[in-house]
Amino acid sequence: MNYRITYISGYLLLFMLLFVSCKHNGEEYHSLTDKIKHKSQNYHKTQISSEKYLEDKELIKITEGEHTFLIPERKGKIKSYACIECHSKPLDQMQNSAEYKKAHWDIKLVHATKDMMDCMTCHNGNNMNKLTSLTGKEIDFNRSYKLCSQCHTSQFDDWKGGAHGKKIVGWAPPRASMTCVNCHNPHNPSFKKRWPARFNTQVVKERKDELE
Ligand code: HEC
Ligand code: HEC
Ligand code: HEC
Ligand code: HEC
Repeated sequence: MNYRITYISGYLLLFMLLFVSCKHNGEEYHSLTDKIKHKSQNYHKTQISSEKYLEDKELIKITEGEHTFLIPERKGKIKSYACIECHSKPLDQMQNSAEYKKAHWDIKLVHATKDMMDCMTCHNGNNMNKLTSLTGKEIDFNRSYKLCSQCHTSQFDDWKGGAHGKKIVGWAPPRASMTCVNCHNPHNPSFKKRWPARFNTQVVKERKDELE
């Protein structure tokens, strides 16, 4: 008798389950995996896109190896650009002339040691509007990551692949990533060391004592 009841109610339960789960009107799915499959069907055909969030940003497209992506435009953000408004002559002529006052007091180089690096390691004394590579090739200010990549190859490789740095609005394509100078000041690139935030048991104890 007991067997029978279990048997019948078992069937009843199964029937109810089938009935309920098959009643999918638009939004209902047989299982979570079905739902994920259906919703992500067009993902790689860029149904989901960051495009509209990037519209108001000034970006440039770069290709480095097999990676093509967008980075922020820089020249419009640099206060003293265009440099040639003052740097109309080669630097040595400007530095040894009474005509010019000392400039760039606010820039103090805290990067590598003095014997390894000075202003001219990165800036081009003959054309200040461009950066310069270690072999004397011009590098545009919008592509200053090329400057950094000469010495910081591993971070550059990670950045290209998307492992070092940060995306601009989200993970959905098209890919837009911050560039080195968005985070690192080239004149003082390292970040201050910080202690991790700690749960302070003493403060908790003092508060409790106050209440009592
Ligand atoms: C308002 C005028 C002005 C502007 C704009 C300007 N500079 Fe200069 N800069 C000077 C003068 C004057 C000197 C030479 C005197 C000195 O060395 O302080 C100089 C010197 C320099 C030096 C040599 C510093 C040293 O200690 O050897 C560098 C590097 C430099 N400028 C880079 C730049 C770059 C890069 C820009 C643009 C992003 C720029 N400057 C824009 C006026 C200017
Ligand atoms: C490691 C490379 C490097 C060195 C060394 C370096 N700079 Fe720069 N400098 C840069 C880059 C890259 C930028 C552009 C940063 C950006 O996009 O905001 C820049 C920007 C500037 C600017 C424009 C800043 C502004 O906000 O208007 C001035 C001026 C300048 N540098 C002067 C100097 C002087 C003077 C020295 C030496 C004391 C120096 N730089 C050393 C890489 C360097
Ligand atoms: C000519 C070689 C050279 C160039 C170009 C250069 N760096 Fe450096 N950088 C060094 C050296 C050397 C050090 C100091 C040694 C070290 O800590 O690795 C350093 C240190 C750093 C550090 C601190 C590392 C740490 O462990 O705290 C950062 C961040 C950095 N650079 C970023 C940049 C960025 C961003 C650029 C481009 C704007 C750049 N560097 C361009 C040689 C270079
Ligand atoms: C979104 C911000 C961001 C961007 C973009 C970025 N970095 Fe960094 N970088 C960081 C942070 C955060 C650290 C870790 C600092 C720390 O641990 O003290 C770091 C660390 C570094 C270091 C120190 C060594 C290390 O790996 O800890 C170097 C060198 C460096 N970055 C170079 C670069 C270069 C070159 C680029 C561009 C190709 C770049 N970074 C782009 C944020 C950024």
